[in-house]
Order: sequence, then structure tokens, then C-alpha cells
Amino acid sequence: MDYIKRFAEDVREGLSSEPKYLHSKYFYDEVGDNLFKQIMELEEYYLTECEAQIFKNNKDKILDCFSNDGKVFDLIEFGAGDGMKTKILLNHFVDNKVNFNYIPIDISKSVLTHLTKDLNSILPELVIKPICDDYFHALEELNKIDYNKKVILFLGSNIGNFRGDNAIPFLKHLRADMSSKDQLFIGFDLVKDPRVIMDAYNDNKGITSEFNLNLLDRINNELGGNFIRKNFSHYPSYNPITGETKSYLISLEHQTVWLKGLSQSFTFEKWEPIFTEISQKYSLRDINHLANHSGFRVEKNFFDNKSYFVDSLWHLL
Ligand SMILES: C[S@@+](CC[C@H](N)C(=O)[O-])C[C@H]1O[C@@H](n2cnc3c(N)ncnc32)[C@H](O)[C@@H]1O
Repeated sequence: MDYIKRFAEDVREGLSSEPKYLHSKYFYDEVGDNLFKQIMELEEYYLTECEAQIFKNNKDKILDCFSNDGKVFDLIEFGAGDGMKTKILLNHFVDNKVNFNYIPIDISKSVLTHLTKDLNSILPELVIKPICDDYFHALEELNKIDYNKKVILFLGSNIGNFRGDNAIPFLKHLRADMSSKDQLFIGFDLVKDPRVIMDAYNDNKGITSEFNLNLLDRINNELGGNFIRKNFSHYPSYNPITGETKSYLISLEHQTVWLKGLSQSFTFEKWEPIFTEISQKYSLRDINHLANHSGFRVEKNFFDNKSYFVDSLWHLL
């Protein structure tokens, strides 16, 4: 199915559900990519700084873990984004003349084009093979790649965007394509003071709100919708019992929206929410549980100074 048909079907399904939802993967058009860049620079959004610190402080140790036999490996990154933090590792690996290929995967064409151009200019010796696709479809592409050792990166807490137990089937799927020498390196945002977490999704400048509302603009632009963005409001919440941070768009009035591309209208009650994103926070026990239930064992954990974030290196069980 081509991308626009898939988008239309996902929107139809989400807005016909009770409660309504929209997939967070559709945040990332060109405007969304730029807004996410601004989010990463916000003081409240501690995740970027924490993971960058982990990479800066541990780049030698990380390299030792990935490349201990000197043989060529494929560094495959799911949801690479602008690669801001990954570049810390890529620079270090290239400086050390490590023999590897970099395979960034992202659903956003614009982010992947920028990343490839950027890396070609700053690290011309880096071998880069981008794949523009959804995680699950990209998994199929991966099987066609030469049989080198695979080191799979899943950074920036992208894993936290899976709903409920959906992370386990995804990880099992990944595992099915991995062999005993391959590794998975995953970023997890850890449980912490709930106020620190809430601030990260409700910044003072309103950039996160813009990011969430941009989803409605994207539906208007690409599916011929007539959403009026001032009729919706960004609402984040954090549940310290489940560790779930959820974002919603709340309908501020009773309204009906027409989507020409779907030939369908959708009615929203006053105060009705559209669930748009989950960002799961984890304890170390949750991380071990996730690894063990998807066929992995945790080999090593790398923390930032405040233990707000962890990058966890996994092998097959
Ligand atoms: C929150 S950003 C994080 C980017 C990067 N990993 C980081 O840590 O800075 C998520 C990225 O994953 C991509 N993405 C989200 N859902 C995806 C999916 N289902 N398949 C492929 N890429 C996806 C988005 O386009 C976006 O660039």
C-alpha cells in the first residue's frame, strides 16, 4: 500500500475508534521534523542532553562493545531523526577508522534526506545506506542486507512510543532477524520526579503543543481536512503508577470535521480527547522484563549523571 493510502486508512481507523486516536508516527512531516528539533533544544526536554552525555562519556566503551573483533558491522538505526546524538558515535567510530556501514531508517523522507546530506558533508568517508520506511516494513528490507554483524540502535526513547505491550511483538520481530553475534542498543527514559517528566511534555514556549497540533495541519494538507486548530488544545498527562506519559488533543467544542480525501466526516463532542502519543517511562525492572519476554538479556547499561536515562545493550538470550 502506498504511503498516502496507509495514512488515510490509519486516520480513518483512528478517528472512527472509541476513544479516538491518531498514530504518533504521523507527527513527522517537514514541519513536524523542525518542531521536534526545537523540542530537543528545550531546557525542559532533558532526554536529548542525557543521552548525548551518555555517548560523550562512554564512546570508547560503546565502541569496544560494538566492535571487539575488528570485523565489518552494520550499524542500523531505527527512527534515526536528525541523528544529532548518533553523530557523537559516528564521528568517534570514523576517527578510529572502524569498519562499519551506517543504515538509518526513518518514516520521514525529509529528515532522512537532510541526515544523509549532512553526513555526506561532515563525514564523507562514512558508508551510509538510508531506508525510508515504517519500522515493520524496514525489517523486511533488513533481511536483504549483506550478512554482516548487525548492531541495531533504537535511541531517544523511541521504544516508549509503542502502546501497551506492543513493544514486545516488535522486539520479538527484530530478534527473529538477529543472530547470536548481533546486538541491540536501546534508549529508555527512566521513571523520575513526575514534575520533571510533565514539564518535558508541556514546555513554557508551547513548542510541544505546536508539534501535537501540527498533526491536524498535516491531515488538512494531505487528506483535504478542514480541522480548525484553535478548536483543539494540547493536553499531556503522566501516570506515575503505569509510567505512561500520554498526549491528547482535546476538542474545545462540539464540531464536525470533513476529510475530503476520505469522503467522510467525523464528529467531536465538546471535551472529547484524541489520543496522539504515548511516551512510556521505565524502571530497571521493567527493562529486564521487556528484554527477557522478547528473547534478550541485558548485557550492560550506560547511565547519564542523574540516572534520568539509560542506553541498554542487549544480546540474544
Ligand atoms: C522522537 S524522534 C527521535 C529521533 C532520534 N531517534 C533521536 O533520538 O533524536 C522519532 C523519529 O522516529 C521516526 N519514526 C517514528 N515512528 C516511526 C515508524 N513507525 N517507523 C519509522 N520511523 C518512525 C520519526 O520520523 C522521527 O524521526
